[in-house]
Amino acid sequence: MKNANDSQIVLSLKDLTIGYDNKIIMENINLDVRRGEIISILGQSGCGKSTLLKNIIGLYTPLKGSILIFGRDLICCSEYRRRVMMKKMGITYQSGALLGSLSIAENVALPLEEHTRKTKSEIKRIVMEKLEMVGMDKYADYMPSEISGGMKKRAGLARALALNPELLFFDEPSAGLDPISSAEFDSLIKSIRDRANATVVLVTHELDSIFAISDRVVVLDKTIKTVADIGDPRELRENSASEFVRRLLGRNNLKRQE
Ligand SMILES: Nc1ncnc2c1ncn2[C@@H]1O[C@H](COP(=O)(O)OP(=O)(O)OP(=O)(O)O)[C@@H](O)[C@H]1O
Ligand SMILES: [Mg+2]
Repeated sequence: MKNANDSQIVLSLKDLTIGYDNKIIMENINLDVRRGEIISILGQSGCGKSTLLKNIIGLYTPLKGSILIFGRDLICCSEYRRRVMMKKMGITYQSGALLGSLSIAENVALPLEEHTRKTKSEIKRIVMEKLEMVGMDKYADYMPSEISGGMKKRAGLARALALNPELLFFDEPSAGLDPISSAEFDSLIKSIRDRANATVVLVTHELDSIFAISDRVVVLDKTIKTVADIGDPRELRENSASEFVRRLLGRNNLKRQE
């Protein structure tokens, strides 16, 4: 049964314009993301997907508009409040972005050491719990150079989960993975969403991922510098008013079988 929280808006973009200095990359983006949703962001290479993600997580400041996280304005709030909000967000980068000189467990422990006052044994317990969640508990003492690309992504995800984020962001999680590892990572994202009751925003080029796990997709179009359409991926593939969207979501781009 659905409860009242299901319809809670956890992330809201209002008339958002993003870019660098005065160069506009995307403008007038409006989006509400509900608790527990998996939402994908799709668009041409260089259209501004990563830029959008970095604005949402507070790394860059938008040129215009607002970003509300759990109803609070990320841009106008105090530095302290912004840091509290940023702790509710976890991000997994394309490469996994692990520190090569630290073991997998030490990498996952980093956010806990930096942002909490937990004891060493408590941190160890949490690290093992997060590694277990992503199926990497047996590799705690390995170095990043000793594990595969897919494992690095899992370890990066464990680190993103360390502070129990309510909002999880992924920038191209399938990049560099073979179709099977990529499908496994999709299932992992879905199971983490279910287990941690998190909300997921996923930047991806992979139509397979979009159709496999997304509740909705946001299609960005570089030509018009804004959102071309938002909705259920299958619905948009068939019925979007935008030909660009129908084409981008078109079947012949699929690698995995539906
Ligand atoms: N730090 C920066 N300073 C200035 N311009 C930038 C910066 N980072 C990215 N850009 C430009 O902003 C635009 C959007 O880049 P972005 O990386 O957000 O695109 P993307 O959709 O994530 O692309 P891809 O699919 O290749 O990852 C590009 O034209 C890029 O050259
Ligand atoms: Mg990118």
